[in-house]
Amino acid sequence: MAESIGVLTREDVLDSLKNLRQAQEVDYSAFYSSHLGGVVTDPALMVIPFDDHMVHRGHGIFDTAAIIEGKIYDLENHLDRFIRSAEASKLELPSREEMREIVIRTSALSGRREGSIRYWASSGTGNLGLIPAGDAKPAFFVMIFGGLDYPERYYAEGMRVMTTTYPIKPPLYAVTKSTNYLPNTLMQMEAKEHGLDNGIFVDEAGNVGEGSNMNCAFVTAGGVLRHPRFENILSGCTVKRLLELASRLVDQGVIKDVVVDDIPVAEAKASAEMMLIGSSIYVAPVTQWDDQVIGDGKPGPVTKAMRELLEEDMRSGEGMLIDVPY
Ligand SMILES: Cc1ncc(COP(=O)(O)O)c(C=O)c1O
Repeated sequence: MAESIGVLTREDVLDSLKNLRQAQEVDYSAFYSSHLGGVVTDPALMVIPFDDHMVHRGHGIFDTAAIIEGKIYDLENHLDRFIRSAEASKLELPSREEMREIVIRTSALSGRREGSIRYWASSGTGNLGLIPAGDAKPAFFVMIFGGLDYPERYYAEGMRVMTTTYPIKPPLYAVTKSTNYLPNTLMQMEAKEHGLDNGIFVDEAGNVGEGSNMNCAFVTAGGVLRHPRFENILSGCTVKRLLELASRLVDQGVIKDVVVDDIPVAEAKASAEMMLIGSSIYVAPVTQWDDQVIGDGKPGPVTKAMRELLEEDMRSGEGMLIDVPY
């Protein structure tokens, strides 16, 4: 077998990259790479050099925003978090204006009116060491794709989750959206192995953390919306926005109050409602956590109201949308 491995020509490589994509169902519409200096729309060409430090050392950060009805939702808050992640990771970025323009331009070239925008910064290419090569040029990438697909069952019946056996990230790494998602990946795989939908990180003091790529919120029997403090978990742009918008639910009498504080697991499990929140899942009810049925075991009214608040904001939130110039 090994004897059949030979040195490939450039054409062979392109053929192999094409064949790989033909054998896979990919939903990637456009990819900007500062290494390439432009945008490619052929998924076979959406590649990154092996010695980029994001690939072999995980020295990279990322963020994800959404395209809804041809508009980009909440890009500024996602850029704020990206810039904070870059500072914590000692990564150089293009200017905020340049990143915004590249994201909008790549979205326009993708032609996609519904989907996701994921963008990354890396310390660049040039060696296989730990710290960036002396002449490394920091890189920036943007991918426009179809978004993650979650089963309708999650929303209609509710998700079932487990306390993960994997330790929560220490706060510095938890608040930084770096490409080191090994704990998050393992936690999701563990849940699937147990026939469940996702895992929940719990901190050393026994307080609720977050899901694999989503935050979690609760509604007490007395109608208080609760969310963990953000010091030890990722500052989810979706939940942060929803915590602002939830004051409308207080005014409407749907909930009594909104509280952000430590939430011991036992209290969380005794909630009337639990929900997972993020820019890919939006708002999904959780009806079972470990052996505990949450509330009456059915998706609850506050979760539904939160989802509606988000959907409305995604379509018409003032100052939240950027028109894509297709
Ligand atoms: C670990 C983690 N927590 C929470 C979230 C939710 O954040 P957002 O609402 O910005 O998608 C994400 C997703 O980005 C995540 O990866």
